[in-house]
Amino acid sequence: MEQKTLVISHLNTSFFTEKGEVPAVRDVSLQVRPGQIVGIVGESGCGKSVTARSVMGLIRYPGRIVSGEILLDGREISGIREKERCSLRGSEVSMIFQEPMTSLNPVMKVGKQVEEALLLHEKVTKKGARERVEEIFGQVGISDAKSRMECYPHQLSGGLRQRIMIAMAMICGPKLLIADEPTTALDVTVEAQILRLMKQLCGQGTSILLISHNLGVIAQVCDYVYVMYAGRVVEQADVRVLFDRPVHPYTKALLKAATSLRSGADVLDSIPGVVPNLLHLGAGCSFSPRCGSCMELCRKEMPERLPAGEEGHLALCHLLKMPDGALEEAQEKIRGSAPGEAQEKIRGSAPGEAQADTSGRAGTDGDKGGGE
Ligand SMILES: Nc1ncnc2c1ncn2[C@@H]1O[C@H](COP(=O)(O)OP(=O)(O)OP(=O)(O)O)[C@@H](O)[C@H]1O
Ligand code: SF4
Ligand SMILES: [Mg+2]
Repeated sequence: MEQKTLVISHLNTSFFTEKGEVPAVRDVSLQVRPGQIVGIVGESGCGKSVTARSVMGLIRYPGRIVSGEILLDGREISGIREKERCSLRGSEVSMIFQEPMTSLNPVMKVGKQVEEALLLHEKVTKKGARERVEEIFGQVGISDAKSRMECYPHQLSGGLRQRIMIAMAMICGPKLLIADEPTTALDVTVEAQILRLMKQLCGQGTSILLISHNLGVIAQVCDYVYVMYAGRVVEQADVRVLFDRPVHPYTKALLKAATSLRSGADVLDSIPGVVPNLLHLGAGCSFSPRCGSCMELCRKEMPERLPAGEEGHLALCHLLKMPDGALEEAQEKIRGSAPGEAQEKIRGSAPGEAQADTSGRAGTDGDKGGGE
């Protein structure tokens, strides 16, 4: 049987604050196969970054992994020592963080920082390392690479710092690359360049876990997608199935909001209500206060994960237990597009076009600080 690059099973990660336990990640199970790009999507605060940080061993006090298993290439890594973990970072697994400024050393030239990441893991001469850094800077869209290598982080724009982070994460060709909103700060042309580079890396065997608010980015590059809500995976499916035949009301609402954003509607279809406070979760489905299909049962009982028809398609919703007709009826309300159409609508056909974003931030045309 094929060895999976990453297998997360029943992960629970909480923050133990003065106000009580914040269960940021609840019973999350997720897999990434070699050479696959797997997406995690969901609104702000739903647990995407905490899931990624749990894999990297970067949950700090007052947070901790409460239970669950994380296997990297078949090896359990959730309980390993910091020294062992350091040897994994870079060559086995690396991460592009949401906030590049906090991840770069402010007093070291950026070229040197990327060079050191390579020297730490590969037998390469200093000259060879410098050449490789110059090459990867070019690949991530940093012009005038030689002089940029001599800069300190504060001398560069946010977009350039993000590209330095991407170069650093990619330079050792890790088995698993976790990319947390890697292109959010970049303009669409550079975004397209980075996404192409990620696809290329996958062709060379790297697996990617891509976290994004942007359904357009997910539709363009992912093979399989997990939708998170209030710390849980509420739906998971092959990318085409998820965009064409979503079953969970939350996924449907995300897609509807994204489609209206792309079609340039005057009034955006946002999801009514707000994400729940994780300190005060009720017994039933966490989406019930915002769900148009909510039933009596939903407020009382947490739904279980059930197959939603096609292979690999699962969802956490009581509708799946209803007689066939009820689900179909609920489906029809949102569908109304031909197969493949939803993904195409959201994907965006050319760099420069607005893409669908679930964060509530507006369109992405023009410079988002990614320009040089
Ligand atoms: N240090 C902390 N203390 C308490 N709660 C925390 C801490 N860090 C994260 N959380 C909580 O964990 C939840 C999940 O946070 P996470 O950063 O994973 O969200 P996210 O899905 O990545 O959101 P975004 O899209 O905004 O990046 C949030 O409700 C957040 O308030
Ligand atoms: S379980 Fe009920 S409230 Fe939750 S998403 Fe499904 S229909 Fe809506
Ligand atoms: Mg995040």
